[in-house]
Amino acid sequence: MPAPLIAPSILSADFARLGDEVRAIDAAGADWIHVDVMDGHFVPNITIGPAVVQALRPHTAKPFDVHLMISPVDPYLEAFATAGADIITVHPEAGPHVHRTLQAIRALGKKAGVSLNPGTPAKSLDYLIDEVDLVLVMSVNPGFGGQSFISSQLRKIEAVRKAIDKSGREIRLEVDGGIDTETAPQAVSAGADVLVAGTASFRGGPENYAANIAALRGGH
Ligand code: DX5
Ligand code: ZN
Repeated sequence: MPAPLIAPSILSADFARLGDEVRAIDAAGADWIHVDVMDGHFVPNITIGPAVVQALRPHTAKPFDVHLMISPVDPYLEAFATAGADIITVHPEAGPHVHRTLQAIRALGKKAGVSLNPGTPAKSLDYLIDEVDLVLVMSVNPGFGGQSFISSQLRKIEAVRKAIDKSGREIRLEVDGGIDTETAPQAVSAGADVLVAGTASFRGGPENYAANIAALRGGH
């Protein structure tokens, strides 16, 4: 099995020193930088907006993997694209026309992702697969870092892997929530090729980041 990409979520970084944290996690081997955007409405937590993405852009050349947990989402796509997002991922529940939202992300020249909550079936991808560059399976309910991995999502990862392979398209399968050294290999065995990890990446401070990321990659 090829090594998964590791996308540390800056939600678990020290927000008072975010630029330094992004540099440190980049130097430690992060493949992508995962940015969790929450609005206190779609999810019960508030984090950061496009101004912070823009401020962080000069601190790394790694792709910004921007996970939008906001509703409505369409009015903010352009701001995140301009701020320096490379991949923009949305939830189907965030608006009535997810197909149109995915098209809008691509029209901005960005990669489009769709995120499936723990209660959202893999089937909801059926008519979206041609519009996406990434599928994000949530292995916790969105809103907070540090939650436990919901094991039932492994079956969904397997189903999504099948759908991606059947499509013949180049689509990343990312898993987000409760990823640690125990759950990472489970997600990869089920078919994931990108792992988001907040708590497990930033645990112990900068001197531990490289070891944390290497441990998440496992035997790869
Ligand atoms: C949850 C976020 C996740 C979260 C992951 O809503 O989408 O990216 O930060 O955090 P951990 O790895 O701590 O579960
Ligand atoms: Zn996320």
